[in-house]
Amino acid sequence: MKVLVTGSSGLIGSEAVEHFDRQGHEVVGVDNNMRRVFFGPAGDTLWNLERLKAATKRFAHAALDIRDRTAIEELFRAQRFDLIVHCAAQPSHDKAREIPLLDFEVNALGTVNLLEATRQHSPEAVFVFLSTNKVYGDAPNEIPLAELERRYDYARAEDFAGVAETCRIDQTLHSLFGASKAAADLVAQEYGRYFNMKVGIFRGGCLTGPSHSGVELHGTISTVMTWCARSRSLPQIRGPARCTTWGAAARTAFPCWRRSSGSNG
Ligand SMILES: NC(=O)c1ccc[n+]([C@@H]2O[C@H](COP(=O)([O-])OP(=O)(O)OC[C@H]3O[C@@H](n4cnc5c(N)ncnc54)[C@H](O)[C@@H]3O)[C@@H](O)[C@H]2O)c1
Repeated sequence: MKVLVTGSSGLIGSEAVEHFDRQGHEVVGVDNNMRRVFFGPAGDTLWNLERLKAATKRFAHAALDIRDRTAIEELFRAQRFDLIVHCAAQPSHDKAREIPLLDFEVNALGTVNLLEATRQHSPEAVFVFLSTNKVYGDAPNEIPLAELERRYDYARAEDFAGVAETCRIDQTLHSLFGASKAAADLVAQEYGRYFNMKVGIFRGGCLTGPSHSGVELHGTISTVMTWCARSRSLPQIRGPARCTTWGAAARTAFPCWRRSSGSNG
């Protein structure tokens, strides 16, 4: 099988590259290190690209920009893909506020460029789109909660498994990032329904891992753990309520991190 992974040097894309390479598939990765443009040197993903090149057997990288329709079309003209895993994105709420046009171009236009190239050149391929739970905006905040002794929980049993896909995505405040991702999510759904393409959409939330080039504006868990590891103090993030939450999370996670990294520091 030939697999295309966009955002291949990022957190989720690089995991996908390793996963399919381990299974013996040919993997092409597209990533132009735009995370460095968004977040500065701490967001640079080149270290992860180098790691992937060393760790994989059938991985080829192309530093293409998914906004560049001509370049994407040429890639699809030259190679036929069986699976596309689309992870390239501007992933931060707060950053989107500073760069609304760039955010929309990468998230919405980049996605439709890939969908259309797939339709034209690899119409039988499975197209996996990494969407986000932020497409629901603030709507999940309307779900009733119960205050327990030490925490809040959903009040109704039907909510225990998480927010249902039937939750509305309009008439709610998203952030510009949530809106650009919702646009991409809708257009991906439409390519599936209207053109009968094999499109799967995954709405994740708050993911992290060792391949995250974590920065304050995106990759909070990884950033907090790095701060803890360096300073041994628990940072305050946006007010006391969150500080308590993060303090608890970091106290739990830090010993595990030290064990897994073999760190004594
Ligand atoms: N990490 C999370 O908590 C989380 C949660 C929900 C959804 N998601 C979604 O999953 C996807 C992947 O997220 P991630 O956490 O791996 O992000 P990431 O920033 O680690 O990876 C994205 C990669 O895309 C690349 N990229 C950005 N713009 C590009 C462009 N124009 N052309 C080519 N490459 C470009 C970046 O350089 C980066 O390496 C995103 O769509 C994100 O919205 C992530």
